[in-house]
Amino acid sequence: MRTLRSILGAAALAALALTTGACFGESTTNIHHTPPPAAPDPDEGESCEAASKNDEIRRALAPACEGCHLTGNKPFFVSLAAFESGLVYNERYVKRGEPENSMLIQLLKGVAPGSYPQMPLGQPYSALVTNGQVTLTIEQVEAWIRDLPARPVQLETPVPEEFHVRRLAAEEMVVSLMEQLGLTLEDFVSTSDPNWRNKAYVVNGGKLFVWPGDWSPGISNEYVSDSRSVERFEALGGGNSLLYRKKDVGFGPSAAQTLVQMSQAWCARAVDKRNNPAVLRHVTLADTSATNPEAVRKNLRTLYLRMLGQPPSDAEAQALYEQVYLPLEARSTRLGWIGVCAALIRHPLWITY
Ligand code: HEC
Repeated sequence: MRTLRSILGAAALAALALTTGACFGESTTNIHHTPPPAAPDPDEGESCEAASKNDEIRRALAPACEGCHLTGNKPFFVSLAAFESGLVYNERYVKRGEPENSMLIQLLKGVAPGSYPQMPLGQPYSALVTNGQVTLTIEQVEAWIRDLPARPVQLETPVPEEFHVRRLAAEEMVVSLMEQLGLTLEDFVSTSDPNWRNKAYVVNGGKLFVWPGDWSPGISNEYVSDSRSVERFEALGGGNSLLYRKKDVGFGPSAAQTLVQMSQAWCARAVDKRNNPAVLRHVTLADTSATNPEAVRKNLRTLYLRMLGQPPSDAEAQALYEQVYLPLEARSTRLGWIGVCAALIRHPLWITY
């Protein structure tokens, strides 16, 4: 039985290997003819059979488009859902029943308004039809738009697998961290002069100020008394429009390193700030795991919720308590809370959105 199974499995795989490459090509030739052959085994990889009329079109266009539209900000060809929500049922590109008014057709014909009159970039779609790279003609695309099926209902409901997260932008990190930690600008810059906002500001030493170069204070070099505030912001991935510097959407080692330093310095600032309940909500620095364990655990959970927007699981709360808080508390409760606070800022849930 086992052997038979594995032989069948191998046969199915072999058949699949022979047909996968042909999937997209096959469906194009079949648009108006016989349905594509059934996939060898429904459990083995993606089926070659188009799920719907729209899927047939997606598969037929794919050889001409997917090279550039699987990633980036227009990933139309990454899935049927992306194709339908981003392109097919986007009025900007496809007007149902009106191919002549649909930008998609204009793009295929190379006459679309805007910076990119022609898709695919580089060569006219009709040339691809002529040389056989695609078999779907522009007339067939027009016919499809003329009879375009109504927008499927499931497009309205979010698909969890399609859910994307991104890193927080540097601006969001700076602003939300100040807010969460109960800090304000005045905690970082010298405000003794009543007119300080209009003058070159003085960064109070050792506070690891992180601030965009093109925000106020700091809008020009004149106001930046510590250029490292701006450099740190840029290391965090922030842009600088005054210097034509784009923001970095990745999260590399320099961003991570800056966030580590920032989290430690800013958490210390928050713990040391008088009457600031942001970090020390249910405890004071006099409470320890020996004298008031309940308050310590409660504070830890509250801080988790405050920083990450959801309560910790028991296992996570326990790990944070045992692996971060307790070892540092042995040196001082102040360090214990700074450590917990900084650990939460480096949590994937904090860094992403
Ligand atoms: C060689 C790369 C490349 C290929 C191939 C390509 N595109 Fe594009 N496409 C781009 C770029 C670059 C842009 C513009 C940048 C952006 O908005 O992401 C773009 C933009 C678009 C837009 C938006 C246009 C607008 O003005 O809003 C549509 C729609 C589009 N492509 C459809 C297609 C289709 C359909 C195909 C296949 C027939 C295709 N593309 C093939 C690179 C390509």
